Amino acid sequence: MTIHIGAKPGDIAETVLMPGDPYRAKWAAETFLTDVRLVNEVRGMLGYTGTWNGHKVTIQGSGMGMPSLSIYANELLRDYGAKTLIRIGSCGGMQPEVKVRDVIIAMTATTLGSPSDSIFREVNFAPCADWSLLSAATEAAKGFDVDVHVGGIYSSDTFYAERADLDEQMVRHGILGVEMEAAELYTLAARHKARALAVLTVSDHLQTGESLPSDQRERSFGDMVEIALQAAFA
Ligand code: HPA
Repeated sequence: MTIHIGAKPGDIAETVLMPGDPYRAKWAAETFLTDVRLVNEVRGMLGYTGTWNGHKVTIQGSGMGMPSLSIYANELLRDYGAKTLIRIGSCGGMQPEVKVRDVIIAMTATTLGSPSDSIFREVNFAPCADWSLLSAATEAAKGFDVDVHVGGIYSSDTFYAERADLDEQMVRHGILGVEMEAAELYTLAARHKARALAVLTVSDHLQTGESLPSDQRERSFGDMVEIALQAAFA
């Protein structure tokens, strides 16, 4: 047990999928895994461990934003020996060729500041995905009826951003989409010699204002879970 995760040692798999929403963790575990057990419910941040194609997998909610994800990812890496963390979540599209419902596989995650910033001081660390996961996810995604983009994303600290000029610079520099967690996940994985990746569905679009209807969110989320699982065990 850690401060925020009630699981016993051995309850957590080396491979952990991390949706922001704990109810998505529940849905994904019940839909894609067998022999599913609830392993964490501290603060309602549900975590489940089960089996996928003979492999042990945990699906643990991360909460929203880097400070929340940082707590769970730190404890999973430090205390439970997790080796592969894959964020599955949503993001806002930032380029015209990126459409609502597309999948973004995040190669790098730019950020204004993350919980890890205090250790880097004057250095701008470049959080990047694990190459083996990135290439395996890109390959796996070809088996799904979805358009896939691979490139840089922006991990923001605000969903309701007031700095339009920042978004503008992200767009100008080719950032594909905005979410709120990946940069800290990649940084922590680097620190703990683990593998990390973020696979994201475009749920809304900053320029067009379009958003994914709720009845289509489940299918898109399901595609992401499968891409993440295939990538983890490729
Ligand atoms: N901003 C930040 N995070 C997000 C967004 C967004 O527009 N959409 C989904 N996650």
